[in-house]
Amino acid sequence: MSDLPVLTWERLLWAAAVVLVYVLFCTSVALRRALLRRRARQEADALAVGGEAVLVVYASQTGFAEDLAWKTAKTLQMGKVATRVLSIADLTADDLTSTKRVLFVASTTGEGDAPDPAARFVGRVMKAEPDLGGLSYGLLSLGDSSYVQFCAFGRHLDAWLTERGAAPLFDRVEVDDGDEGALRHWQHQLSAVSGVIDAPDWSRPAYDRWRLVERRLLNPGSQGGEAWHVALEPAEGTAAWAAGDIVEIGARHGPDEPADTPAPPHREYSIASVPQDGRIELIVRTMTRPDGRFGVGSGWLTKYADVGGDIELRIRANRAFHAPEPSRPLILIGAGTGLAGLRAHLKARAAAGANRNWLVFGERSAAQDYFHQHEVEAWTAGGVLERVSLAFSRDQAERVYVQHRLAEAADDLRLWISQGAAIYVCGGIEMGKAVGATLTEILGAQAMADLTENGLYRRDVY
Ligand SMILES: Cc1cc2nc3c(=O)[nH]c(=O)nc-3n(C[C@H](O)[C@H](O)[C@H](O)COP(=O)(O)O)c2cc1C
Repeated sequence: MSDLPVLTWERLLWAAAVVLVYVLFCTSVALRRALLRRRARQEADALAVGGEAVLVVYASQTGFAEDLAWKTAKTLQMGKVATRVLSIADLTADDLTSTKRVLFVASTTGEGDAPDPAARFVGRVMKAEPDLGGLSYGLLSLGDSSYVQFCAFGRHLDAWLTERGAAPLFDRVEVDDGDEGALRHWQHQLSAVSGVIDAPDWSRPAYDRWRLVERRLLNPGSQGGEAWHVALEPAEGTAAWAAGDIVEIGARHGPDEPADTPAPPHREYSIASVPQDGRIELIVRTMTRPDGRFGVGSGWLTKYADVGGDIELRIRANRAFHAPEPSRPLILIGAGTGLAGLRAHLKARAAAGANRNWLVFGERSAAQDYFHQHEVEAWTAGGVLERVSLAFSRDQAERVYVQHRLAEAADDLRLWISQGAAIYVCGGIEMGKAVGATLTEILGAQAMADLTENGLYRRDVY
């Protein structure tokens, strides 16, 4: 007798039921997506107001980029910023030349390919080489690092936009497999575009409990804002991170804020220490809002939270600012609180015996604002820092900034680059722009593009 199963009505019915359940499930997922999209669209339309609209363009294969484009539009409209959401399939060169600001949400598909709806844009608009000198843009690049060509289309689009003369509003944000931390970082960047600083996080970080163990003013008597050394230890266990990583802090309201308002969104800070320190150290500038209240995150960390008290904290890996191999010479450039990210790298390099380091640091006045001066001097004495260039802007009649120190040292800079050096920049966006422009003058646009392409020009600018 054969062992083949006998086809019975009962079996057929079961099979039909399984298929039916599956079809219903798929339909419900698709319906839910469509409903969510429609609701977002309706809310976006309801919120749309006049003025110079920001164009939000999505290049999407399976719909994730499109969802995020609508969410992005909604977030902007909370700040009364008019937006227009468009598929890249409908985007023309005229749209780009007649708009001042555009935000792209672009995924990558296949083996590093553009999504299908982008075919015409890639084939025609990109080839036509329009002049985008009047355009500023932000770019959210979706991908999955298990593919060799990670975020390839987003990177390609970014390179094309800068080649055409468009100016980035902030550095490209890359999202690996839907990483929520990276999406919160995008939201954080959007706050600069929308002017809304308290929009709730799209997803709440899975915070760990940490303890604030030390808080010390780094610049007593400064003409500038207070800068604090803030140290935190995990409430239980140990934590791991790499130089270049970032913390997300869950701030609480200050005493001048009604307690029943929703919890503020996360705030981000560059980590200034390494795990061997046993603690996370930050350099936090106390910010003041136009109405005189302290900044959400900085008020919490530098004014309101008790030393010894709990802090909600999550470490976010920031691969874009991870270290080069120790054998490479490293030029570290930063101003103000930007020293934080550079300090983590210097600590890691010191521990690895990597001594070809050149620090370029700027602040207002040497007497008050030379953060962690004793450490920098000890690194110099101990051979960890081969060279230090300081730009204290207010210590002489004319203002001197880090980019001026770079220009003065142009020959040495070229020499270091010829020896394989990497350039790491940390700090405010304006400093980042000025440094980028000066580096391009010194090294040339092609060399900068090559450095970027090879991961030897990296930035943590905010
Ligand atoms: C068939 C397929 C191929 C993909 N190829 C890449 C790739 O080469 N590089 C990459 O970074 N991501 C790749 N991804 C990941 C997508 O970019 C990621 O899932 C993105 O969030 C999809 O966004 P979308 O729904 O807007 O298309 C691929 C995904 C799929 C399904």
